[in-house]
Amino acid sequence: MRSAARIEGLGTTVFTEMSALAARTGAINLGQGFPDTDGPRAAIEAGVNALRDGENQYAPLPGVPALREAVLEHQMRCYGLEPEDLLITFGATEAIASALLGLCDPGDEVVVLEPYYDSYSACIHFAGAHKSPVTLRPPDFALDPDGLRAAVGPRARMLLLNSPHNPTGRVLRRSELDLLAAACTEHDLVCVTDEVYEHLVYDGEHIPIATLPGMAERTLTISSVGKSFSFTGWKIGWCSGPAQLVAAARAVKQFLTFAGGTPLQHAAAAALRLPGSELEALRADLRAKRDRLSAGLTTAGLEPLRSEGTYFINADVGRDATKYCRELPERCGVVAIPIGVFYDHAEVASTLVRFAFCKRHEVIDEAARRLATLAGA
Ligand SMILES: Cc1ncc(COP(=O)(O)O)c(C=O)c1O
Repeated sequence: MRSAARIEGLGTTVFTEMSALAARTGAINLGQGFPDTDGPRAAIEAGVNALRDGENQYAPLPGVPALREAVLEHQMRCYGLEPEDLLITFGATEAIASALLGLCDPGDEVVVLEPYYDSYSACIHFAGAHKSPVTLRPPDFALDPDGLRAAVGPRARMLLLNSPHNPTGRVLRRSELDLLAAACTEHDLVCVTDEVYEHLVYDGEHIPIATLPGMAERTLTISSVGKSFSFTGWKIGWCSGPAQLVAAARAVKQFLTFAGGTPLQHAAAAALRLPGSELEALRADLRAKRDRLSAGLTTAGLEPLRSEGTYFINADVGRDATKYCRELPERCGVVAIPIGVFYDHAEVASTLVRFAFCKRHEVIDEAARRLATLAGA
C-alpha cells in the first residue's frame, strides 16, 4: 500500500480528477493529449484488413516483421540511423517501462529533465532507482548547463531524455543536445530518449540524440505511432538501438505483456509507410491549431508561452494554477492541467497551466470563447 500511494502521488491523480470533472460538468477537455479526429484512412484500412485476414494471434515477441521493417526504414529515411536491433511495444509507455526496468539497478540514478512525463517517475520508482532532475524553468525551458552538471553524480547510470518535450512544448537545440551527449560519454551513461513527438515540431527541427557523435552506441530511442499519426488509442510503439540495450528491454517486455496488438501493428506499418506529405499535413494542421489556441488564450487575458512542438501549450494564469484548474470546469466549462504536477519542484511553475490544442478548430474556438468569459474575473 505504501508503494501504491507513492506511485499515485506522482501526478496521475490530477488526470483522474480532471477527467472526472470533465465528464461530470460536460466541460471541453483540454487536459489530456489526444486528438478528436482520426488519423489517415489508409492506415485504418490496413488495420481492418489485418483483422479480416486472420492477423489475430500473438505477434512474435520482437514485433511483426512488416512493422519492424517499417520502423527501420523510417529511422534510415528520416535520420540516417541504422539501429542494430528494435523491439515493438505497447506504446512508448511499455518501451519506457521495459527500458527502465531492464537497464537500471536498485540505487542507480536516472538523470531526467524536469518536468517529467508522468510514467517516468513511476517506472524509475518500480526499478528501485532514483531521479536526479535537471529542472527546466519557464518562460523558455532551456537546458541549464550548471543544473545538468549538478545532476550527474557518481551513481548516475542513465540519461532519460524527452524532446520534443511534454509538458513544456520545448524542442531541444543542437547545442543543448551536445551538452547532454557530452555528459553521457564523460560519465558513461546509457541514454534512453523518448521521441514520441518527433514529427510534431512547428518551429525548429527535431534532432535525435542518437545522431550525435558517439551516441548511437549508447542510446535507446523510443517512439510510437500515437502522436505522429493521431492514433493514440492504438498503443503501438517501439524502441531501437544497440542490440544489448534492446535485449535488456525485450527481456522485461516478455514478462510485462509478451506480445499482441497484432492487427494494429500491421496498421502502424502502413502509417509509417505513408508518403511524407501525410505527416506534413498533420503537422501543418496541428501548427494552425497551436496558433489558434495561443491567440485565443491571449484574447482571454492569459499569457501563453512559446510552444515549439507536441500537443501542448502552456499559459501563465497569474494565480495558483492548481486552484485555477480545479475551479475552471465549473466556472467556464474547460479542463486543463496545472504543470506543477509534472515537477517535483512545483513552485517553479506554480502559475502555469497546460492546454492541449490537438482538437478540432471549432472546439478550440469554443474553449477560447469560454475562457474569455473569465477575463478580468
Ligand atoms: C512524452 C510522452 N511519452 C510517452 C507517451 C505515451 O506514448 P504512448 O501512447 O505511445 O504509450 C506520451 C503520451 O502522452 C508522452 O507525452
